[in-house]
Amino acid sequence: MHRGPLRAGEWVRLVDGKGRKHNFCLEAGKRFFSNRGHLDHDELIGREEGFTVTSSAGGEYLVFRPLLSEFVVSMPRGAAVVYPKDAAQIVAMADIFPGAHVVEAGVGSGALTCSLLRAVGPHGRVSSYERREEFADVARRNVSQFFGAAEGEAHPAWQLTIGDLAEALPASGERCDRIILDMLAPWDCLDAAADALRPGGILCAYVATTTQMSRFVETVRVHGGFTEPSAWESLVRDWHVEGLAVRPGHKMIGHTAFLVTARRMAPGERAPRKSRRPAPGAYGPDYTGPRADEADPRTDEAAED
Ligand SMILES: C[S@@+](CC[C@H](N)C(=O)[O-])C[C@H]1O[C@@H](n2cnc3c(N)ncnc32)[C@H](O)[C@@H]1O
Repeated sequence: MHRGPLRAGEWVRLVDGKGRKHNFCLEAGKRFFSNRGHLDHDELIGREEGFTVTSSAGGEYLVFRPLLSEFVVSMPRGAAVVYPKDAAQIVAMADIFPGAHVVEAGVGSGALTCSLLRAVGPHGRVSSYERREEFADVARRNVSQFFGAAEGEAHPAWQLTIGDLAEALPASGERCDRIILDMLAPWDCLDAAADALRPGGILCAYVATTTQMSRFVETVRVHGGFTEPSAWESLVRDWHVEGLAVRPGHKMIGHTAFLVTARRMAPGERAPRKSRRPAPGAYGPDYTGPRADEADPRTDEAAED
């Protein structure tokens, strides 16, 4: 897949002069219609990608196979997808390596699944958990479409389980190297994730709001079996580069989600406590979330002394 002459059954992406994109599956004998007339699929099948075709009414189209980053933002979605910029961060910062066994939940539309499958390679394994059957169906179709699996066949390195990760992961007895949580309440899955992760393994959560990020980080601290969590977001800005007009693009995706990672300690081991005192008021009277040093007699007031 993804190289050599274009074949029937593969997806192609046509881009016109105005940047409008059309994705479709090549079928012998079929026609693609646009506001600039039509094109026969047979004109594309058998050619090496990276060429221009002209439709019956004179429209010019650039023809390539869609990249993974293009595919995931144009594929059918059941739930919101992990954006390519964040999938890249997850693969790099959660250190997804060839041969790794990665657990992810929920699978949603399968966007992150595609990046994980690519990163673990043929000797790795991705175990995805999704509690909604209808989303799992969308993910199955998207993953099969991207990797070109035959009808009814799944990617050989992929296993999809329907169920809530908090119950289904312990029931499976799986042990893994990395766990990626993309869901509303990742803290509910923390115990299951901690039990399944090998020592040194990485837990990574993708959360959309600051309140989710705070609750997840504090719950990880309370658990005690992980290193101090890191939390961040990534912002990507395009640039307009033309002669002397070199400036940032006017539009950008301002927010997608935050990422949190922490490493699993060995059984019975605890990471050294943060030596820094919390910022004044961090855990003041308005804070009602989980608190790792609840049992610590040092109060906020004492910390400020
Ligand atoms: C935002 S979507 C995931 C998108 C996916 N990562 C992607 O890139 O396409 C969140 C999904 O998590 C599922 N979910 C939420 N809590 C879950 C749990 N505890 N166990 C399994 N799936 C869960 C939801 O049903 C939903 O499909």
